[in-house]
Amino acid sequence: MTSKDIRDKFIRFFVGKGHKEIAPAKLVPENDPSTLFTSSGMQPLVPYLLGQLHSEGKRLVDSQPSFRAEDIEEVGDNRHTTFFEMLGNWSLNDYFKKEQLSWSWEFLTKKLGLDKEKLYVSVFGGNDSVPKDLESFEIWKSLGVTQDHIFFYGVEKNWWSRSGPPDKMPEGEIGGPDSEVFYDFGTPHDEKYGSNCHPNCDCGRFLEIGNSVFIQYQKTTGSLKEFSQRNVDFGGGLERLTAAVNNTSDIFETDLYKPIIDAIVQLIGKEYEADNKPAMQVIADHMKTATFLIKDGVVPSNKLQGYVLRRLLRRSATKFYQLTKNMKFLAEMIEVYNAILSIYDGLYGIEKRETSDINLLEENYKVIFDEMNRFGKTLSAGFHKIDRMEQIDGKEAFDLYQTFGFPYEVTEELFRLKGQEINKEQFRVEFEKHRELSRTASSGMFKGGLADHSETVIKYHTATHLLHQALRDILGPTVFQKGSNITHERLRFDFSYDKKMTDEEIKKTEKIVNEKIEEDLKVDHLIIPLSKAKELNAIGLFDEKYADQVSIYGIGPKYQLNPKAKDRRSRRGYYSLEFCGGPHVEHTAVIGKIKIVKEEAISWGIRRIRAILKS
Ligand code: SER
Repeated sequence: MTSKDIRDKFIRFFVGKGHKEIAPAKLVPENDPSTLFTSSGMQPLVPYLLGQLHSEGKRLVDSQPSFRAEDIEEVGDNRHTTFFEMLGNWSLNDYFKKEQLSWSWEFLTKKLGLDKEKLYVSVFGGNDSVPKDLESFEIWKSLGVTQDHIFFYGVEKNWWSRSGPPDKMPEGEIGGPDSEVFYDFGTPHDEKYGSNCHPNCDCGRFLEIGNSVFIQYQKTTGSLKEFSQRNVDFGGGLERLTAAVNNTSDIFETDLYKPIIDAIVQLIGKEYEADNKPAMQVIADHMKTATFLIKDGVVPSNKLQGYVLRRLLRRSATKFYQLTKNMKFLAEMIEVYNAILSIYDGLYGIEKRETSDINLLEENYKVIFDEMNRFGKTLSAGFHKIDRMEQIDGKEAFDLYQTFGFPYEVTEELFRLKGQEINKEQFRVEFEKHRELSRTASSGMFKGGLADHSETVIKYHTATHLLHQALRDILGPTVFQKGSNITHERLRFDFSYDKKMTDEEIKKTEKIVNEKIEEDLKVDHLIIPLSKAKELNAIGLFDEKYADQVSIYGIGPKYQLNPKAKDRRSRRGYYSLEFCGGPHVEHTAVIGKIKIVKEEAISWGIRRIRAILKS
């Protein structure tokens, strides 16, 4: 059975049980500033699991591309990947344990034809505040699962929330006990992992292929309480299901990876065997993840998603280099990329390409090629240096990062293979020192949101500050920036607020901004101690790590202070005062006039405004 058959069967099966198929979200969440990547099928559905009504009803199903950056270092065995497709079905306060466990069992054993004898299940064993899940235990037994195939585990294994076990859940987070299904490949147990083998053993004999979470708890101050609805959140990795159905314990042998491995084998002239395997698994996984990230708009950089992408590509290049000891692989790397496209041809907006002509390559491949090529130029020099080093300390690891572009984690891994640990704290100290130096007045935290530093973009940027303050005037001080993106055509501003703005509020906001523009307020750039900025009540993201001296922009001071307004405490007469790296116009009249063209919700509690400049 192919992976495509399994994906299709899953969707069809749950559609047959009254579910609506929904479109998967992008790998980089568009509407959730709290997280960098979509890492599970439930993540885009959080607002609905919390109670918001979904337009498609209470039963949903999809296949969600997911990325778990925290698993980067786990890759390099038969079953770990950073990218996976999560088959998911959800009940939004509709059916619960009985239906969920029966249906998932029916799907696995009847639709996929998995041998019941090879399936094991785990159930929550209870803790201080949540009882043992005897209900699920009884349901599994009634489905014919024998007691020796049912295992109880505690919160570390059988509790699921986005933040992990109950003590790690922040206030408001939802989660609950879960029940997992494992496939037994029957491979011999490795005692390195403990004297007894069991479904959650790491020896590779058992593979978790599905997880039903019963979201029925919410964290309140310090404790868990029964949540107002009882949701089901099921997720099963397609890669692992495909491995189980085909009874191959190595997911890299399935049709979701084999073409990529074959292309790597072809490219470097080495077999997928023995010691070559981990490096090839890393390349196959990382290049696939990179392809998906780039498709969803990420470009390599030193920040956030861009840094993760850079790390994936540089780690792939390092593995190629370790396997070949030269850079020749770069010339033919397109074949690896083509293999990835061929696997997903027609899915998730991916189309296979028929050309290997370097001049006809699509932009997305060029991003991969350019990053690996640039890094490749220093890679052999870096390896040359490493080969001559007997010891490495954190400072030298930083030099390798600074001079040759070796991400810390890559250097750490290379030296670990030589049996050495690097002093990470020392690396961090060097890194921070460097960061402070480069955090000049012009390196602002919103810089990423500006398309460039052209005149128009700068006007929009200053208008955004006025808008931010005007929104706080109209809607209150709970309004904070959650995101900003400025192009030549418009400003886009995301902020915290839990209601739709009325037409009147929108008009008033727009009016204030235009009045401030007309008043021709002066824009000041201040570099002041962090403590002073806080004292002045400058708005900004305080959870960012700041240097001692911070960069603030103040718009004023023609504005007359209104001592009664809550939000304008002792601001030296500035109307707007915000942490920012700039750049901004010198005085507001040059902006012209703004018009708010759209106000909409982008996620639970976050609104988005689009505005344009009118001359
Ligand atoms: N959210 C659960 C998981 O990621 C089930 O979908 O395992």
